[in-house]
Amino acid sequence: MTTAPGSASGSAVGSAVGVTTIPGEPWSTGVERGADGAVRVAGVDVRALAAEHGTPAYVLDEQDLRTRARTYRRAFTEAFAEIGAGVDVYYAGKAFLSVAVARWVHEEGLRVDTASGGELAVALRAGVPGAEIGLHGNNKSDGEIAAALDAGVGRIIVDSLVEIERVADAVAARGGAPAPVMVRVTTGVHAGGHEYISTAHEDQKFGLSLAPSRGTADTVAAADDDSPAMTALLAVVARPELRLLGIHSHIGSQILDPSGFAVAARAVLALRARLAARTGVLVEEVDLGGGYGIAYLPGEVALDADRIAKEVAASVERSAAEVGTDLPRFSIEPGRAIVGPAGLTLYSVGTVKPVRLDEGRTRLYVSVDGGMSDNIRPALYGAQYHAEVVGRLSTAEPVLARVVGKHCESGDIVVHEVHLPGDVRAGDLLAVAATGAYGRSMASNYNLLTRPPVVAVREGASRVLVRRETVDDLLALDTDA
Ligand code: LLP
Repeated sequence: MTTAPGSASGSAVGSAVGVTTIPGEPWSTGVERGADGAVRVAGVDVRALAAEHGTPAYVLDEQDLRTRARTYRRAFTEAFAEIGAGVDVYYAGKAFLSVAVARWVHEEGLRVDTASGGELAVALRAGVPGAEIGLHGNNKSDGEIAAALDAGVGRIIVDSLVEIERVADAVAARGGAPAPVMVRVTTGVHAGGHEYISTAHEDQKFGLSLAPSRGTADTVAAADDDSPAMTALLAVVARPELRLLGIHSHIGSQILDPSGFAVAARAVLALRARLAARTGVLVEEVDLGGGYGIAYLPGEVALDADRIAKEVAASVERSAAEVGTDLPRFSIEPGRAIVGPAGLTLYSVGTVKPVRLDEGRTRLYVSVDGGMSDNIRPALYGAQYHAEVVGRLSTAEPVLARVVGKHCESGDIVVHEVHLPGDVRAGDLLAVAATGAYGRSMASNYNLLTRPPVVAVREGASRVLVRRETVDDLLALDTDA
């Protein structure tokens, strides 16, 4: 879930030019420092961005995002073509979704994975055809199921036995073609950070376990498989209002060790073979979920799309041969890897306060004009980020700093530990890298702060994708105002 501790975050400390790692990861490819020391994103000076759009602001590098979308699609298409299998890439909208972003990823050949009626509505408004949209969720409302059926979504990923009946009943009540569904299964593989663990039984809310009550998912015969996953697959097959499209597995997020994907895929392919032996139904598609990890800190290495695609393709080919079935069509659902590195958050520095630590050390607390309401990940997961002063280049000696927000909570931390120039001061522009995923999408109005805008930059021009909230927006929801 979170990244490794940020020892590398000061990797450029003491370099001749001061505290900067720009250009390079974890910044988007359009980020560079001009000769005057100020940073530009896709050719737009951050000082101009701040003047025009205010701070805090989420800044999205359109070309970088598009390139990542295209790269994932090409890498997986090529690697799976080698083994004779097709693959679809669904952009996981939960990472960040707006009408423009849905359009961009669709133009780059991706489909869109949604996890709520809201995400579905945005994808549809962008013009993404229903057939190229998936709907997830462990507790879909009747309204969400109806909206998905209205839109003719390409797949509803069902998450429980109750939901299988609810979707089938909704189709029965309205008539029409059977709804395409995938059953979300849990393989026992949980990945994230640098390790994965495999356990037979799971204590979490998603999906249906493929652990049978006897034996293991690897050894159990078709007739003996009484796992919740098999029970759900049989329940779908039994309902004529549903068309069993496939099996879905998502193992985690911010995964940097790819071996978990292969373990999960093998378990899913074995389940698919057992279902075929039992019912004659060989499902046409297997979704391997998202979770591809990115670099948050200088020196961190993101999962490489080509490498992971080749590894996963090779392993599913082996697994399908082992279980003796043809390969299905595959799909994947990257979110963070497409939008995360394309985004940064631009803040203005306010109060700067040295705080003496135990061993005579001092930490500089640098307050910015946002905080846990625009990026909850440090507080929620202990996530590490990298920040730099971007409005100018300083040659001042770097000091140990902590970037904090303006909320009334001591856990309101934006960057736990980073070296900033010792002369950082009120009015400086500070950027936090790789905030494109799960930043705006998890933002809140805590302390009734207004949520920042999302500004796209491309070829020297900026454009607002989602405008800044105003106090009037907040008051408009208050029926006594
Ligand atoms: N597919 C499914 C079914 C998922 O549940 C998720 C993420 C994804 C795809 C996309 O995963 P990605 O490629 O973005 O890692 N709020 C957390 C991440 C939660 C992810 C939930 N599911 C964070 O900020 O790290």
